[in-house]
Amino acid sequence: MEKSTAGGNRQTDLIQFYVNGRLVKAAPGQKMIRFLRDKMKLTSVKNGCSEGACGTCTVLVDGKATKACILTTDRAAGKHIITCEGLTPREREVYAYAFTKCGAVQCGFCTPGMVMSVKGLIDQNPDPAPDQVKEAIKNNICRCTGYKKIIEAALLSARIFREQEDIPENTWKGLIGDNLPRVDAPGKALGDAKYCDDLYLDGMLYGVALRSAYPRARVLSIDTSEAEKMEGVVKVLTAEDIPGKQKIGHLQQDYDVMIPVGGITHFLGDAVALVAAETMEQARSAAAAVHVEYEELPGVFDMMEGLKDEILVHASNGSNVLAHEHLVRGNAEEAIQSSKYVVTNHYSVPPTEHAFLEPECAVAMPEGDGVRIFSGDQGIYQTQKECAAMLGLPRDLVRVTAMMVGGGFGGKEDMSVQHHAALLAFHTKRPVKVTFSRAESILIHPKRHAMEMDFTTACDENGYLTAMKATLISDTGAYASLGGPVLQRACTHAAGPYNFQNIDIDGKAIYTNNPPAGAFRGLGVTQSNFAMECNLNQLAELVGITPFEIRYRNAIRPGQVLPNGQIADETTALVETLDAVRPILERNPKAGIACAMKNSGVGVGIPDTGRCRIEIRDGKVHLHSGAACIGQGMGTVQMQMVIETLGVPPEMVVYHEPDTALAPDAGVTTASRQTLFTGEATKRAAVLVREAAEKAGGIEKLEGQSFLGEYTGITDKIGSDKPNPVSHIAYGYATHVVELDEEGKISKVTAVHDIGRAVNPVALEGQIDGGVIMGLGYALTEDFPLSDGKPLAKYGTLGLWKANQIPEIDSIPLGKAPMEGLAYGAKGVGEIATIPTAAAVQNAYYNRDGKFRTRLPLEETPYTRKKKL
Ligand code: FES
Ligand code: FES
Repeated sequence: MEKSTAGGNRQTDLIQFYVNGRLVKAAPGQKMIRFLRDKMKLTSVKNGCSEGACGTCTVLVDGKATKACILTTDRAAGKHIITCEGLTPREREVYAYAFTKCGAVQCGFCTPGMVMSVKGLIDQNPDPAPDQVKEAIKNNICRCTGYKKIIEAALLSARIFREQEDIPENTWKGLIGDNLPRVDAPGKALGDAKYCDDLYLDGMLYGVALRSAYPRARVLSIDTSEAEKMEGVVKVLTAEDIPGKQKIGHLQQDYDVMIPVGGITHFLGDAVALVAAETMEQARSAAAAVHVEYEELPGVFDMMEGLKDEILVHASNGSNVLAHEHLVRGNAEEAIQSSKYVVTNHYSVPPTEHAFLEPECAVAMPEGDGVRIFSGDQGIYQTQKECAAMLGLPRDLVRVTAMMVGGGFGGKEDMSVQHHAALLAFHTKRPVKVTFSRAESILIHPKRHAMEMDFTTACDENGYLTAMKATLISDTGAYASLGGPVLQRACTHAAGPYNFQNIDIDGKAIYTNNPPAGAFRGLGVTQSNFAMECNLNQLAELVGITPFEIRYRNAIRPGQVLPNGQIADETTALVETLDAVRPILERNPKAGIACAMKNSGVGVGIPDTGRCRIEIRDGKVHLHSGAACIGQGMGTVQMQMVIETLGVPPEMVVYHEPDTALAPDAGVTTASRQTLFTGEATKRAAVLVREAAEKAGGIEKLEGQSFLGEYTGITDKIGSDKPNPVSHIAYGYATHVVELDEEGKISKVTAVHDIGRAVNPVALEGQIDGGVIMGLGYALTEDFPLSDGKPLAKYGTLGLWKANQIPEIDSIPLGKAPMEGLAYGAKGVGEIATIPTAAAVQNAYYNRDGKFRTRLPLEETPYTRKKKL
């Protein structure tokens, strides 16, 4: 060992070990993840939790897969560490190819760690069985893919190494329907792709927020003097330092950038002060040294208590009701009275956490008279709008550049770190990085709403639905976020994809002092679908027909009218999804079944536009769009739209990450809208290129020219007086079937989706696989317990599914959309893949043991966890 001076005159023994074949020396007692990332800049080693729970930091230590966040430098003495950067050229080639070809990469944040676990296995066992792969990656969580394609990629990698196969040339043309390799997959698989936290800019500071000590309290005073004097501290800010709007927000501006003196906190995640310091540790220490005096106030932590308005979360609102929806069509009460069969049940569903693998991170830096923000979010223009408002700057002085996004699922639609990074950069005139710890991430970003739901559903003697009535109460937590639209979608889809007309649905979203709730894959439909579909099975039993049959009789068909009044268009293929699962139900009548519908696009009369700008540069077709790729593969979708339209080879098309300085606003990645809206806008831009090229005599003659494609979906408002309002441009439909094994474990899920047309079938199947596993988690294991507004879960106790738990998944996309339709007939699948799973699981358990479960996660199953929290 060598001696060095560290921390003054004290001599420290340096630890020696090898990283990617190179001898390195490190002070003892450091977390290996920090050494590898901060000192060696080996950013393939991702920091998903720093708690040993996610596996994104997996490296090989003497050949064994090891989490770098729980390894310390002193325990590595003499050992050999390998990260993705240390793969041989052959290994890089093989893993990049196999993971890309199999569609094993979505957001990619888990992938370098997966690759290391797979390498650890293959190095020991060149011919692993699928179960051995599952075992080897069971400590690597993937929230996107559902693991199936990762397992396939591992087996393919092993075969290529074993058989010494050459990597085949890419022969895909990239037309609609081709499995064009994802443009971003190789870089993500090898850890070369850059996420925000991988940025290390010269002179960069680290920003940390001091959070409220109480979910509801009045801030009496804030004393920053001690923190300001601490080593490394450059700036301490409070609400007084906000030059523009004190409150921001996605749709409603109720979110405090920081709580001012005299203000009242709304939840434990509220920021009271911000610190920028030379190191993260110094920033955290200084934030803890900010002295705040509070007057603790009673809070409201239960949505039913919130309804009473005895304690107001936002006093200026005069009520805790954020949103109220009342949808009426026909006369539900009368129809129920005269119906042969009626069922009523109360359903309770919990809040759940997105658990994307990449915690929120933003880096902001001064640029000109404004700031530039590097952000991993779901909409760069939304970030620009909110940060500009807070800074009191015109929007064009706030530039937002998208980095890779390590998963979002709705949880990165709101500001979390971006505004704080921007404010600190604005004041310090230096780059500032703000990265959430996993605990902050879990506390702060909006969750899936907990809901309490009463559903009454009625049918005639033949099982034809006649009416439904429902009340839904959602806990929207401390801030509005997307609580309004979530409630609205829960209500507009509560009657399901069925052909009947009498509905009376009343919903309320209630503020509480819990962490906020907002968008999460399914946007409220995940909740109301569970209630509607479970009720349907009880009706079937009363009628004496199967759950399949009641769905088949009522399934919406082209030309029929949905319960919201919209006429189902000719692409509607719900019946086809049912036909596809009929043989399963005939073979296994105890299988559980559920159907769903989900809109593509915001709809309901709200302006909704996708945009794409194509520039011809250096003889290539460059794509610029503000549409965020949060793992779904938006860049590849856009490339295929262009290739289909122009007939050019893939290597002629260049996709660029979103940047407000270069790309037009394409709206937020939400509501399964980007494939349809920005896909169609991209197609339209390509049509303009094609027309211009025809006139000019070739694309190469268009050098330097730009072409803007735009598509706006025109829809009708809720409450429109039209007899058949068009609420949404398109709907996807799905049927899920769940089978259990002898022990009552899930053995297989068949997920059939009407997706219109598959742009890229492998990518689409991956979306469905991932959605199904997320749906199984929602059904059986995931929860987000709170105690007086305080989350009790850590990443490792959220109930996320691991690779060794997954059943067989059969994802079947189908559709009958015309090729000449919008976006070549693609409808989008992002959200619906998660929606019907929970109800299908409930039905499978009912068929097994006769217990009709009305709460999620479902109780008394082999997956039920002992309550130790
Ligand atoms: S970052 Fe190490 S296990 Fe999550
Ligand atoms: S691809 Fe695995 S977490 Fe996103």
